[in-house]
Amino acid sequence: METNQKTLIRALKGETLSVPPIWLMRQAGRYLPEYRETRKKAENFLDLCYTPDLAVEVTLQPIRRYDFDASIMFSDILVIPDALGQNVSFREGEGPVLDPIQSVEAMGVLDSAKVLDHLSPVFETIRRLRSELPQDKTLIGFAGSPWTVAIYMVEGRGGTDGGTARGWAYREPETFTRLINILVEATTLYLIEQIKNGAEVIQLFDSWSGVLSENQFRKWSIEPTRRIVDGIHAVYPDVPVIGFPRGGGLMAAEFIRSTGVNGISLDANVPLEWARDTLQPLTTVQGNLDNQLLVAGGDELDRSIRQIVETLSGGPFVFNLGHGIVPATPPENVARVVELVRNHS
Ligand code: CP3
Repeated sequence: METNQKTLIRALKGETLSVPPIWLMRQAGRYLPEYRETRKKAENFLDLCYTPDLAVEVTLQPIRRYDFDASIMFSDILVIPDALGQNVSFREGEGPVLDPIQSVEAMGVLDSAKVLDHLSPVFETIRRLRSELPQDKTLIGFAGSPWTVAIYMVEGRGGTDGGTARGWAYREPETFTRLINILVEATTLYLIEQIKNGAEVIQLFDSWSGVLSENQFRKWSIEPTRRIVDGIHAVYPDVPVIGFPRGGGLMAAEFIRSTGVNGISLDANVPLEWARDTLQPLTTVQGNLDNQLLVAGGDELDRSIRQIVETLSGGPFVFNLGHGIVPATPPENVARVVELVRNHS
């Protein structure tokens, strides 16, 4: 099958499909028993990301089980700070822990020179996925957006409101810009290399853009995203890029217009009719089932899936969640979503 016949790519090029393509953020992960088995073979989480045998296996697990339309390569957004030389680890039950960088002096540990070398296992994973994935599946590559990655680099852990990063960005925008510039450059090179090795669509996760005020959102979410999208499209004009400015609310329309993304992933707070009337005329929309409803299941899950599909499938649309699958999700609820989305007409 030719690339341009793949459903996800068609939707991202603006086509309205009678059955929307479906994939789910964090479709590989701890909610799947087979993931938990494979995970035991890796020393730690970053090892899992950097061992192509294991990363390919966990990427394919949700495809085998649910036959999603697209496969997102298995890795993490924090491989970029790791590749830049910051100390990054993932602690059991605690999430990511990084040696925080909170001053221009502390940025001295960052070295862009070896980023692509360091990430070569990720590129091998992508090449192997392209040969092992069924022909009709789209391979999605990804990275974190500079603002979201910067939050983890500055705060040193998750679960904060990004206060230290926001404070730095207000107090000393010039030095904070230097950090963002390093991330824009490394991320652009990383994504171009992903495409060179076989990624067909890119998603940029700006999971923490929602903590930014209006002007800061323009400066730290929209502007770096625009530079990355421009950088990718200068080399690969036809590769669709999906933006995910989580929590961006009413800024979504400006985000779409100013960044040049080919699709926008919507979180569960975005009102469906507003998305249909305001965003869908501008670009392909993706989303936005609440990930906790996927845990809860039942009639409310069925109702919400139908409501999303009915409201958004009159235009270019990709079914997804509003945020990634959480570990407590019963695998059978995921099967239910795929069944309802495919059989709804
Ligand atoms: O299936 C997929 O979607 C591909 C894999 C993927 C992971 N992380 C695997 C992962 C993707 C696309 C990500 C993106 C990611 N990573 C984001 C952006 C999306 C979002 O959820 O907002 C962020 C903020 C991160 C950073 C990160 N990685 C955190 C905060 C954590 C800890 C929280 C948690 O769920 O444990 C991780 C770890 C992580 N990344 C796991 C997985 C499967 C769990 C780790 C494990 O198995 O021990």
